[in-house]
Amino acid sequence: MLFFPAASVVLAGLASSVSAYFVVTAPKLHDQWANGDTRMVSWSKGALDGISSFDIEMSQLSTDGLTLVAKNVPSADSSEKSINILLQDVPPGDDYFLLFINSTHGVMHATSPRFSILAAGTASNMTATTNPKAATVTVSGAPNPTRAFATTFAIAANAASRLTLRGSETWGVASAMVGCILGAAWTLL
Ligand SMILES: *[C@@H]1O[C@H](CO)[C@@H](O)[C@H](O)[C@H]1NC(C)=O
Ligand SMILES: *[C@@H]1O[C@H](CO)[C@@H](O)[C@H](O)[C@H]1NC(C)=O
Repeated sequence: MLFFPAASVVLAGLASSVSAYFVVTAPKLHDQWANGDTRMVSWSKGALDGISSFDIEMSQLSTDGLTLVAKNVPSADSSEKSINILLQDVPPGDDYFLLFINSTHGVMHATSPRFSILAAGTASNMTATTNPKAATVTVSGAPNPTRAFATTFAIAANAASRLTLRGSETWGVASAMVGCILGAAWTLL
């Protein structure tokens, strides 16, 4: 199957071209994450890049599926630089990615390496366990971009007045973007 490696190269290239330094440190490439397990998602980024918060989405490449995970995740002022995610009833697959994005206008900051989701009762081999100081978000069911974000974080006081929540627009941009990525991947084949 040539499709997946080609697409992941496109994802990686896209991520590195958008942001000077914003790296997803967990999950790692080919990590296996079982339903029913809570694991830490972590990142490392430049302190002065002006990105104080972002949204996290999860994409399954083969289905063009998109799950809205967490909105307004604080970054710059957070010493934790991680959130925990509990997976429930997410369809198993070896082609999942996390997208770190501003879903309002579709700017991608970073993508995680490709990882696998396993059926409940299987052993996860992710080395990153959980961060007890970080928030935990439950992600359940098949990807569905029309469903609202599983969790929306309270945004920093100084940004509150600028908040506009436009759900349908938000997922529209996001899914259009995944479409672009897939389109780009296809043209490489
Ligand atoms: C988990 O298992 C997959 C498949 O065997 C492997 O590619 C990956 O490196 C493993 N990850 C860890 C952290 O051991
Ligand atoms: C996305 O960008 C807009 C406009 O620059 C900004 O107002 C918003 O706070 C950003 N979203 C997040 C989650 O930071």
